[in-house]
Amino acid sequence: MQEPSAERSHRLNAYLLGVLCYNCHAKKGISPEMGKKKIYNRKDAYYRKAKKEGFRSRAAYKLKELNSKYGFLKEGIKALELGCWPGGWLEVASSAIGEKGVVVGIDLKEVEPLNSNCAVFLIQGDAGETEVLKDAVRCAGGKFHLLLSDMSPKLTGIRDVDEANMGEVYGTVLNAIETVLLPKGTLIFKGFKGEAYGEIASCLKKLFNKVKRIELDSTRKSSNEFYTYCTGYRG
Ligand SMILES: C[S@@+](CC[C@H](N)C(=O)[O-])C[C@H]1O[C@@H](n2cnc3c(N)ncnc32)[C@H](O)[C@@H]1O
Repeated sequence: MQEPSAERSHRLNAYLLGVLCYNCHAKKGISPEMGKKKIYNRKDAYYRKAKKEGFRSRAAYKLKELNSKYGFLKEGIKALELGCWPGGWLEVASSAIGEKGVVVGIDLKEVEPLNSNCAVFLIQGDAGETEVLKDAVRCAGGKFHLLLSDMSPKLTGIRDVDEANMGEVYGTVLNAIETVLLPKGTLIFKGFKGEAYGEIASCLKKLFNKVKRIELDSTRKSSNEFYTYCTGYRG
């Protein structure tokens, strides 16, 4: 059976994103910043707060901050997180969504089961594989209102390699949208400053009514990360 044209075009976009990232960085060589390690305090205030309040990761406060700004964690919805280990976001999302909702988490690593009123399903696998995404939809009994991605590639300190890997993560997010997200749904994902982001941003503007880039107080000051909040999926 031939794939629907929208799906083909998403796949093509994701593929082109990977190729573009690879091509634009392959030409550039290594900059003086590459390989310089940023020094940061791993055990900062948010780390200590997470320990004290019993969250699995300091990342929990990033989702809390995003939700306090935009209020997307609504009771009873279905939410999927890509790249969920160790589970700080899952803890925050499942407690806000409650017993009438469903939360599914996917990670390459095994995630410890959660103690929650909400139905939480954990899938160990690669979010880049369509079968894994379809499993998530099956677990939830249908597509999701909210797609979260906190995936990050392993950083090497070599700018070209990191940019290409980030492009691959963006491609994974882009490919997931059509398989898992309900029309009018919301997407929030982590990005890193760099050229790869421009490509995904222009794809997303065609797929969503609103696309907004957000910097968080809870992100470490030394980090290049930011989040993108997309609403009104035109699927
Ligand atoms: C920053 S951690 C996520 C933290 C999590 N949100 C929390 O609150 O605890 C990023 C995760 O993305 C996962 N990841 C990266 N690429 C992935 C992929 N293709 N499929 C599934 N997980 C992936 C990594 O294994 C890693 O555990």
